[in-house]
Amino acid sequence: MPTFTIGEQDFMLDGQPHRILSGALHYFRVHPDQWADRIRKARQMGLNTIETYVPWNAHAPAPGIFDTSDGLDLGRFLDLIAAEGMHAIVRPGPYICAEWDNGGLPAWLFDRGAAAIRADDPVYMAALTEYLEHLAPILVPRQIDAGGPIILIQIENEYGAYGADRFYLEKLVKVNREIGLTVPFTTVDQPQDDMLANGSLPELHKTGSFGSRSAERLETLRRHQPTGPLMCSEFWVGWFDHWGAHHHTTTVEQSAHDLEVLLELGASVNIYMFHGGTNFGLTNGANDKGVYQPIVTSYDYDAPLDEAGNPTAKYWAFRDVIAKYTALDDDDVPAPAHLGSSFSVSLPQSLPLWDSLDRMGPWTSHEGLRTSDDLGHYSGFTLYRTEISVSGTAVLDFDEVRDRAQVFLDRQPVGTLSRDHHETSLALPDHATGVLEILVEDQGRVNYGPRLGEPKGLVGSARINGEVLWTWDILPLPLDHVSSVVQALEKQTSDSDAAVSGPVFVQGTFDHAGGGDLFLSTEGWTKGMVWVNGFSLGRYWSRGPQHTLYVPGPLLRSESNTITVLELHAATRRSVAFVATHNLGHTEF
Ligand code: GLA
Repeated sequence: MPTFTIGEQDFMLDGQPHRILSGALHYFRVHPDQWADRIRKARQMGLNTIETYVPWNAHAPAPGIFDTSDGLDLGRFLDLIAAEGMHAIVRPGPYICAEWDNGGLPAWLFDRGAAAIRADDPVYMAALTEYLEHLAPILVPRQIDAGGPIILIQIENEYGAYGADRFYLEKLVKVNREIGLTVPFTTVDQPQDDMLANGSLPELHKTGSFGSRSAERLETLRRHQPTGPLMCSEFWVGWFDHWGAHHHTTTVEQSAHDLEVLLELGASVNIYMFHGGTNFGLTNGANDKGVYQPIVTSYDYDAPLDEAGNPTAKYWAFRDVIAKYTALDDDDVPAPAHLGSSFSVSLPQSLPLWDSLDRMGPWTSHEGLRTSDDLGHYSGFTLYRTEISVSGTAVLDFDEVRDRAQVFLDRQPVGTLSRDHHETSLALPDHATGVLEILVEDQGRVNYGPRLGEPKGLVGSARINGEVLWTWDILPLPLDHVSSVVQALEKQTSDSDAAVSGPVFVQGTFDHAGGGDLFLSTEGWTKGMVWVNGFSLGRYWSRGPQHTLYVPGPLLRSESNTITVLELHAATRRSVAFVATHNLGHTEF
C-alpha cells in the first residue's frame, strides 16, 4: 500500500518528498454529473490533489438522518478523484465556515441543549461523534494506506479565530482517530500568532490561510510549525460576494505572482477555490460584524475555473506558473468554453403564495411568538398570522427580525423590515383592522464568529403601539422541495398575462434541444427563488450584484423543462430570459 507521512522537511509520498498542489472543489456546490469534468480540469491545470469540506448540516438536515444520495455522495466524489489519479484532502469540520449556512453546523444542534459549540461540551461532542461515525465508512476505506486517495484530514477550521479550548481539540482528534482515520491530521489558521497558537495542538501539523504576502505569512507559520513542510491550506485567489455589495475579483497577474512566490519558497498549496460552484437552494451563509450580510447564490469566487466550469484567464496563468514546477502535457488541456443560448420563456401559470399554503403543512397556534427554530424549521420562509383591531395610528414593532419580514394586512402589502437595515418597526395604516400576516425569510445563517446557531424567524415579542400581540398561528414553508406546487401549476390550463404581483409562484415550460448549461437572467424580477425541473437554483434579488443564475446542463432535458419562480414582490414581464453570458455584477474598480 502507498504511504503518506509528514517528514522533517517535506510531505513524504512512499518515502519520497512530495509537494501538494491542491485545489478546493466542494462537491456540494456542483451538480454531481459535473464532478468528473471539474476534477479533470483541476488535474489539467497541474494540480495533483482535490480538497473538499464536508457540510454536516447538508448530510444531516434533521437528527438521525445521514443523507449521502445524489449530490451528497461523497464516496463517489472521492472515487472520481482517485479515478483521475489525484489525491484528496478532506475537511470534515465539524465547523467549516465556507460561506455555507451556519458554517455547516446543523441548526437542530442548538436545540439539543448544548451549552457551547466548538467546545468540550458533552451534548455537542456526542452529536459530532455520531456525525463522524457516519462518515467513517466513507472516509476510512478511502485513505491512502487503504489504497484510496485521501492523504490528509483537517481538524476543525480556523479554530484559533474562534476559541482556545485545548480539551475540545484533543477530544476531536481522539474521535477522528477512533473512527479509524490514520492519515496525518492538520489544522488551518490565519497567520497571526494568537490564532496559530490557539487553533492547534503540538501533534497536529499547522498550516495557514491567506491570499497575499506569501513570504511574510510563511515566516509567521514557520515560527509555529518549526519542522516539516509549509503549506497554505487556503490560498485565496478570489473572494465571495454579499447581496447589495460588489462582485469581488482579483487581478490575474497579482494572483499568479502570489502563487509563484508560494511555490518558489517550496510551499505546498490548496487553491481556495479552484472552482467555487453555486449555493443552490437555501444553502448560503452570511456574515455579521455589526451589519448582517447574506452571501449571494453564486460561489464563483473569481476562481480559475468559473461557476460554469470554464477555464478563465486566471486558469491559464496559474497553469503557466505550475508548469515551472511540474511537467505538464500541452495537449492535455480543457475544451473551449461552452456558451449559453439566448431565448425567452413565458410563464403563463400562476399560483399566489396564499393559495399554496394548504400544501405547505399544518399551521400551529401559539401563545406568544415562536422562532422558526422553535418549530423545528431550519431554513427558508415562515409565515406568522394574527388578527388585529386598532383605533387611531398603529405602529408594529418586533424585538428582532431574522432576516427579512414582509408585512401584509388582509393580504395587502404594508411594508418590509430588513435585518440588514436594523429595521424593527413599521407604521400600519391608521385604524388597522384585519388579518396581519408576516412572511419572514431566513436569508442564511451566519457562518463565521459568535453568531453561529442563532435562531431565525421572529425573535422575542411583537407589539402594536407597545401592546404585546399574544396570539399567533405559524406556518413553516418548506421551499427546498416544491413538487406539489409545481404539480398544481401544471394542472392550470388558462394562460394568464396578468402582472406578476407577489408573493406568487409562476411557471412555464421550455425545450432545450441543444443541451448544455444556461444562464437565467433575473433582470426585471425583484426577489425570490427559482426551480428548474424541481431543482432549486437558489435565490435572486434585484439588489445584485449577481443578475443571472447558473443552470447546470445536467438538470435539463431536450424537451418540456419546467421553470418555476417564486416572486416575493413584483416583476414587470411575465417571462424570463436565458442569456448567453453570466452576469455576476459590478466590480469595485
Ligand atoms: C476562511 C475559511 C473558509 C472561507 C474563507 C473565505 O479561510 O476557513 O471556509 O470562509 O475564509 O472564503
